[in-house]
Amino acid sequence: MKETAMNKVDTQINDLSNGQQLSMDENVEEKVKPFKRSLSRRSFLGKSLAVGAGTIGAGWLLTDRTPAYATGTLIQGDADILRFLSAAEILETDLWQQYNELGGIQDSEVPGGSGSKLYTKALSRLDSDMDQYIHDNTEDEFTHFTFINAYLVSRGAQPVNLDQFRTLPSSQATGAQQIGRLTNLMQLTVDTSWWTKYRSRSGNPDLGDTFPPAVPGLLQGQFPAIPRNDDDLRPNKHIQAIANTAGFHFAFIEQGGTSLYPSLAQRVTDVEVLRVLLSIGPTETAHFQTWHDKAGNVIPLTDPTNGLVFPDLNSPPFGGEDFQTNLIMPEPCPFLNRTFPVCSIIRPTETTGAAMGALNALTADGLFRGQSQAFFTFLTQLAQAADAAQRGC
Ligand SMILES: [Fe+2]
Ligand SMILES: [Fe+2]
Repeated sequence: MKETAMNKVDTQINDLSNGQQLSMDENVEEKVKPFKRSLSRRSFLGKSLAVGAGTIGAGWLLTDRTPAYATGTLIQGDADILRFLSAAEILETDLWQQYNELGGIQDSEVPGGSGSKLYTKALSRLDSDMDQYIHDNTEDEFTHFTFINAYLVSRGAQPVNLDQFRTLPSSQATGAQQIGRLTNLMQLTVDTSWWTKYRSRSGNPDLGDTFPPAVPGLLQGQFPAIPRNDDDLRPNKHIQAIANTAGFHFAFIEQGGTSLYPSLAQRVTDVEVLRVLLSIGPTETAHFQTWHDKAGNVIPLTDPTNGLVFPDLNSPPFGGEDFQTNLIMPEPCPFLNRTFPVCSIIRPTETTGAAMGALNALTADGLFRGQSQAFFTFLTQLAQAADAAQRGC
C-alpha cells in the first residue's frame, strides 16, 4: 500500500504521542504547524517561570495574541468522545478523498488523484463549482481529524489511527489513486430521507417521527457514487446517475456530522473540549447546507444500465413542501416537546446512543461494505465508549 499524505499525518501524530521527533514533508508540516507552535510556547513559558523570569514570560504573553489553551489530562469521557469523532473524521476524509481524486480540483492542498473528466462534467450539472466544493470539503475533513488527534495528544490522550484497516480497493477509473481505502463508494445504499426530514414542519426524529426518502430507488440496491472503472463513464445517463448518487450522498454524510457534534457536545465536561465540538460541528452544517442546495439540481432520469430512477421532485406525486427543490433551509419543526412552538433546528440532537447511531447509519449506507470484522469491532468499541461518557460538573 502506498503511503498517502493522510497516512503520514496519522503516523506522525502517533510518533508525537510517543514523544518522538516530528519529521514530515512540507504539506503535513503546514497542517500541524499551529500545534508545534503551541507546544514550543508552552515549554518556553514553563522554563521562564521555573527560573524566576516571570516578568519576561508575562511581557511575552502581553504581545502573544494566541489564546491560552487548557492543559492537563482529559477525563476519560471527553477523550472517548474526541476519539470517536477523530475516527469519524478519518472515515469522512477517506471518502471525500476518493470523491476529490475523481471529481474535485486537483492541487497540492488535496493531493492524490488526477481527475475524471466525464465524472467531473456530470457533477458540474449540479453546479459549475462542484469540483471546488468537493475539494474544499475534503480539505476540511483532513483538518478535522488532524486537529482532533493533535488535541488529544496535547491533553495526554491517545490519538486514533485507522491505517491497519485501509484494505478496500480503489476505483479502477482513470484519475483515482491505487491505494487501500477505509470506505467503499461503489456499492452504496443511500438514505435520502434527510431531504424530507429537513422539510417537515411536523416531524422530528427525536420525537419518534420517520420520513420518506426523496429517491426511493437509492434504498433498493447498491449503487456507485464514483465510476468503478472507465466503462462507467458511458452512456451519459449512467455517469449522470452516478453523479446524482454522489450529490445526494454528499448531503447524507454532512447532515450526519451536523447532528453528531451537537448530540455528543451535551456530554462533554471540559469547556475547551466543548469549544472544539462547537467549533467543528457547524462547519459540517455549512457543508450540509451547500450539498442540500446542490442536490436540488440533480437531473431527473432513469439509469439505463440498472433502472435507478431519480424522480422530478417538483412534480406529482412529489412536489409541495416536502419535496420542492428550492426549499433548502430547515423548516421549523417540533423541538423537545410538541407543546412548544415549532423551531428551525438541527435534527436529531438526542445525545443517548448518538455515536452508535452514527456508526449504524454509515454502515447501513454501505460505506463499509467489504470491511473486516476487526474494523467493525474497533469502531464499535470507540462508539460505545463515546456513548458511555457522562457529563461531569
Ligand atoms: Fe468533518
Ligand atoms: Fe463533514
